[in-house]
Order: sequence, then C-alpha cells, then structure tokens
Amino acid sequence: MGSIVLFGPPGAGKGTQATAISQTTGLPQVSTGDMLRAALAQGSELGERAKVFMESGQLVPDEVIIGLVGERLQEDDAGDGVLLDGFPRTIAQAEALQDIETVDLVISIEVPDERIVERICGRFSCADCGAVYHDTFNQTKTEEICDSCSGSEFIRRDDDNEGTVRSRLEAYHHQTAPLADWYHQRRVLFRVDGDRPIDEIRDDILATLKSL
Ligand code: AP5
Ligand code: MG
Repeated sequence: MGSIVLFGPPGAGKGTQATAISQTTGLPQVSTGDMLRAALAQGSELGERAKVFMESGQLVPDEVIIGLVGERLQEDDAGDGVLLDGFPRTIAQAEALQDIETVDLVISIEVPDERIVERICGRFSCADCGAVYHDTFNQTKTEEICDSCSGSEFIRRDDDNEGTVRSRLEAYHHQTAPLADWYHQRRVLFRVDGDRPIDEIRDDILATLKSL
C-alpha cells in the first residue's frame, strides 16, 4: 500500500478523522502543522522560520515543507506509507511528493467557508495526547477530562482566531484548492461531504478504505 492524503480547508476535520484512518490502515499520521508547531515550541531554526507565516495564516515556503516531509518519509515507520495530514498544499509540493512516494488515495473533506470560522474558533485539544475537541460540536464526555488519555490540561492554538482563519482560508482557495483537480485527473481523489456529523464522515471514509 502507498500513502493516503487528507485534504481540505482549515477546520475541515482532517486531524479529527486522522485517528480512525490511522487505526484502520496502520499508517502513521504525518501532520505538517503538528511538526511545525513542535519545531516552534522547541525554538528550533525551522520553527523560527515558520513562525511568521503560521501566525499570519500564510503557507510556509515550499522548500521548507518539502525538506521537512522528505526527511520524515525516510524514517523507519514510513516504509509502508504514511497518512499525510495537511500536505501537500501546493502543486509544487504535490509534484515533489510524486517523486518520492506513491499516493493511493486523496480524501478531500469538503466544508463550506461559512462553517469554518465557528469550527476553528471553538477548537481545543488535549495537551498530553493531542486529541481534538470543540466547545459545541465535539465536547469531552466528562467535563475537562480527555476521552483518549484522561489528561486534564487543554490548549488552544495561537492561529485559531477569526483574523488568521480568514487568511488561512484565502491561502487555501488560492494555493491549495487547485490541487483537488490535479489529483482528480490522476484518479485518486475521493470527495466526502464534511458538513455532517463526525461519525457519518468517518463511516464513509472507512467504507472507501475497505474498497481500496
Ligand atoms: P495545519 O495545522 O495543517 O492547519 P489547517 O490546515 O489550517 O487545518 P486545521 O488543523 O486547522 O484543521 P483540521 O482540518 O485538522 O480540523 P480539525 O480536525 O482540527 O496548518 C497550520 C499552519 O501551518 C498553516 O496555516 C501553514 O502556515 C502551516 N502549514 C502546515 N502545512 C503546510 C504545508 N503543507 N505547506 C505550507 N504551510 C503549511 O477540526 C477543527 C474543529 O472542528 C475541531 O474543534 C473539531 O472538533 C471540529 N470538527 C471536526 N469535524 C467536525 C464536524 N464534522 N462537525 C463539527 N465540528 C467538527
Ligand atoms: Mg489539523
């Protein structure tokens, strides 16, 4: 099996759906956003370089991201493919990926813009395991206790505010959305309506994975 790409606008539910897909396929999740945030937290040179772009909701330059993913795909656990979350996001990134990895499926989670702001502004996640929640749409089962790891500390992302979300959406429409056609032409694009309950979307995705 090759790799799977999770594709969609900010707040589409890529991270939310990634857990079930990873469990079903055994593919490790590779989230470029998470990798950049980890680099930022460590104060590394990469993090410093990415900071200004992330804070303003712009894409980090292609050569930085392509280098980062290229290195990650060399690691031992990536030998049988990975679940890419948030990469590629430009045609140049997709072309670079094509040179080093087979992509079997691109899952495009489609959500209208008017839903995105409310999703992003209500998001919080577990500080220990990273599980993603929402103030209204996806609460923890027990108040302030993580369903996955029972942790009790939660964090909100610095870029989860209305101003930055609008820039991220603009970057998505200009630079990333054209990739859907690019992958459609290569017959690997699966579009799923992401404006539905989380479980329904997950069931559709898992059904498609079974038919691969
Ligand atoms: P990244 O971290 O990838 O952010 P993003 O693409 O903006 O996507 P999000 O993580 O915000 O959304 P998601 O689709 O994962 O949604 P989630 O499941 O959390 O990138 C951050 C930044 O890093 C970029 O802006 C850029 O600067 C840089 N970057 C990263 N990759 C790059 C690349 N390849 N090239 C260049 N730069 C790059 O869900 C969102 C919320 O909605 C949650 O609260 C969740 O509980 C809720 N929710 C989920 N599904 C549903 C549903 N069906 N119904 C209701 N609520 C739902
Ligand atoms: Mg995400």
